[in-house]
Amino acid sequence: MTARLLAFSGSTRAGSFNQRLVDIAAQHARDAGAEVTEIRLKDFALPLYDEDLEAHAFPEGAAALRDLFIAHDGFLIASPEYNGGVTGVLKNAIDWASRPSPGQPMTTLAAFRGKVAGVMSASISPFGGLRGIIQLRQILGTIQTVVATENILVPLATKAFDGPALTDPMPAQLLPVMVKRVVRMATALSPRLNA
Ligand SMILES: Cc1cc2nc3c(=O)[nH]c(=O)nc-3n(C[C@H](O)[C@H](O)[C@H](O)COP(=O)(O)O)c2cc1C
Repeated sequence: MTARLLAFSGSTRAGSFNQRLVDIAAQHARDAGAEVTEIRLKDFALPLYDEDLEAHAFPEGAAALRDLFIAHDGFLIASPEYNGGVTGVLKNAIDWASRPSPGQPMTTLAAFRGKVAGVMSASISPFGGLRGIIQLRQILGTIQTVVATENILVPLATKAFDGPALTDPMPAQLLPVMVKRVVRMATALSPRLNA
């Protein structure tokens, strides 16, 4: 069976460098044999996470997002860093997706446990969003997602792309290596594929 990967950006900006980066990663994953679903977090109209909202009116978009996470074996995530950490958009999406489906215990973590992620960051700064990536690794580890070893960092993003193409040679070379690792790890570890 083929690994299913969910690919998305932690930036909702039109023209986002991180959206371009995750688009390229998604194509590499398809080339490596994975089935990839690309989503835009903006389409889910997620409100800010609120425990009262969860209890009384679980948002439709949040339930749809959580179900998509559950249905996939791994994730390709490209996100800018904002003020040295992950973007609020990304953290909010992870928080909603981590909530249990009706009737499931809180500890199930069906959207994340045993899954695999590849993490990337494009940034206009010379540091390439490394601080945000380190935080993202910590968050994903807490919810029991294994993160592939490579950090894909695209510094000075205004000069690193030519239209949709990534022209900075260092991340461009490392990206398919990381994506292939994610596909292999997701195939080997996924609870769905190894039930
Ligand atoms: C609120 C905010 C905070 C930012 N903080 C950082 C930062 O800490 N480090 C950094 O490298 N870039 C930072 N940036 C600049 C981003 O790298 C830049 O906006 C980048 O283009 C965002 O990614 P995107 O093109 O995918 O939207 C920040 C931008 C915003 C709007």
